[in-house]
Amino acid sequence: MNIQVSGQLFLLSTQNTSYGMEIYKDKLLECYWGARLTRPEDIPHGDQLPVEGGHYEEEDKKPNVLQSYPPSGGYFFDENCLKITYADGCRDTNLYYDSFRIEREADKETLVVTLKEVVYPLRVHLYYRVYAGLDVLDRWAEIEWQGDEPIQIEKAGSACCYPPVGRGWRLTHMSGRWAGEYRLERAPLTGGKVVMETRGGESGPYSCPWFALDRGAGEESGGVWAGSLQWSGNWKIAVELNRTEQVNVTLGINDFDFGWLLSKGETFKTPAASLVYSDGGFGGASRAFHEYQAEYLCPQPKAGQKRPVMFNSWEVFEFDIDVEQQMKLAELAASIGTELFVMDDGWFGARDNDRAGLGDWFPSPKKFPNGLHPLIEKVNSLGMDFGIWVEPEMVNRDSDLYRTHPDWVLSCPGKPKTEKRNQLVLNFAREDVKEFAWDFLNKLLSENNIAYLKWDMNRYLCEASWPEVPKERQREVWTRYVYNVWDLFERIEREFPHVLLENCSSGGCRMDLAMSARSDMVNTSDNSDTLDNLKIFEGYTQLFLPKTSGRPVTISPNGVNGRSLPLGYRMDFAMMQTMIIGNNLFKCSEEELAFMREKVALYKEIREVVHNGTLYRLVSAYEHPYAAYEFVAPSREEAVVFVFGQSIQFRRSVHRLYLPGLQPHTLYSVDGGAPVSGLGLCQAGIDVALMADMQSRILRIRKTEA
Ligand code: DGJ
Repeated sequence: MNIQVSGQLFLLSTQNTSYGMEIYKDKLLECYWGARLTRPEDIPHGDQLPVEGGHYEEEDKKPNVLQSYPPSGGYFFDENCLKITYADGCRDTNLYYDSFRIEREADKETLVVTLKEVVYPLRVHLYYRVYAGLDVLDRWAEIEWQGDEPIQIEKAGSACCYPPVGRGWRLTHMSGRWAGEYRLERAPLTGGKVVMETRGGESGPYSCPWFALDRGAGEESGGVWAGSLQWSGNWKIAVELNRTEQVNVTLGINDFDFGWLLSKGETFKTPAASLVYSDGGFGGASRAFHEYQAEYLCPQPKAGQKRPVMFNSWEVFEFDIDVEQQMKLAELAASIGTELFVMDDGWFGARDNDRAGLGDWFPSPKKFPNGLHPLIEKVNSLGMDFGIWVEPEMVNRDSDLYRTHPDWVLSCPGKPKTEKRNQLVLNFAREDVKEFAWDFLNKLLSENNIAYLKWDMNRYLCEASWPEVPKERQREVWTRYVYNVWDLFERIEREFPHVLLENCSSGGCRMDLAMSARSDMVNTSDNSDTLDNLKIFEGYTQLFLPKTSGRPVTISPNGVNGRSLPLGYRMDFAMMQTMIIGNNLFKCSEEELAFMREKVALYKEIREVVHNGTLYRLVSAYEHPYAAYEFVAPSREEAVVFVFGQSIQFRRSVHRLYLPGLQPHTLYSVDGGAPVSGLGLCQAGIDVALMADMQSRILRIRKTEA
């Protein structure tokens, strides 16, 4: 990593990539984003930069299409990053270069460039950060106001970035819904603008704050320009191919219903946008994001530790739980090798169904007459850790909490309150609401031996009024809500560092890099169908670490699409992530229990490679009647390959698999077979037969002697 400055040019370099800017005619312009360069002078700059053309006055020759942080103002009409309404009613902002500084630390370097408004006492500090050994560049902005009268920020983007000029681009992004998250979408980029966004107060599931642009890259080859926004609320990524044939990508908090009042001396800091360039295709871009999370972003040291095999009975029993039944389930779960027993929804207050009790965080006197300790002690005596479910942001109307604090929910005064899943949203922007949640969480985690907390969130935000604050502050609710959720996640990580924290939102409806930084696990979907999950896995792992995802192996036919799949197939899929089992163990035969025990034992043997290894998506479930994935251990002496048939056609439909990532001159055996070199595995490949639909194979590649 390093930051070089030469005259008016800046060159920021990561391990394999570079990013270049120029101060040109008082503006900061983004001139280069691509493979690593060594000289700032090599980036396109000065008169080489595109201008709008057609006019010959000096003013017209000033390039404005590559601005680092284009504000709404002046003769500029592309997507912008900043919109401000000043106290006098003016809504135009014009930013010019002011100064820069560099902050150097052992593991990272940051360039801070300050822009200033032409008239108003407004400064924007642009941050560009690179990390030792990583291929990610983080960008964010801090907006500083020094005027006497407060200003209203209407839009505060994090960054605007530019892949190389020209046409022929393809945009990849994700779309989704409940039970169908992280699905890849890919289409040519034509002139105009594509907007990806969310407006329900969460980062998902209709999209995921991630994009990738390429001009013909493959999974393991070709240039990919990708980025992601570290924000857990409403976000917007706009990709625009403009009239100069230049693509601009703006990433930031969604300006939909956004507002922030900034008073004298205050600063508004935007979330970071993380940018990646890879010439190793989509796989290379994913791995850059994965390494960034494993080594820097995710809570440490947990990020590098292996995850326990879990059991969770939600999909089988839902609210129908009690102490006796959970104890019996725990015995069976322990007998198949489970290491962590998680009790889901239904343990508290009057929570016998989803119509009551949410918000009353004390053990149900009916189901747990002696509290949680007897169950936790039982679980611990079986050699397992104990985990528990909570949903701190929500309340049922039929709850003591709502009866006591009806004013705590998001709603427009005098208007009906929209309920979803019979619940209302607590206004987490309020400090007293946040402190209420912290008090019960702190008590729960301090008074009980809890090793795992599943934080759920089961509806979107709407009617986001906040009558207790002045009207010019009310739109801050969306943003402050996210800050306070983050704050509690951070407090849990800080005060209870041994606790693994699961981020769940009706499955995977709120996952983004900011949540990666504040939690350890994600329930990727409420959909437990493996065929659907192959596609979810491919989308999810474009950005996120595979081990952070978990999806219980549960009832078949599953509750979402009614499809039945073999138990082995479902368990093999669970091994590519953190394994969670959720079957009705009471109904399993001895043979089934023994089968699961065997699978769990195999998983324990390979999980080190899966959890800390490097992922290669060999064959995509989107494109073939089968899918294959490879995990290579950090030592590169071992790998595990997973193959899943979907609908096997014409008998031999699995073609040879070519295995990248191994040491070329080391000899390996595939499932104990004859030695073959890493070069051979990569170039000549291996043959894997799947003879029936819904068959799966796990192949173990291990270093061997000649
Ligand atoms: C939604 C989650 O995704 C499920 O796993 C489960 O925890 C339920 N909520 C409980 O209400």
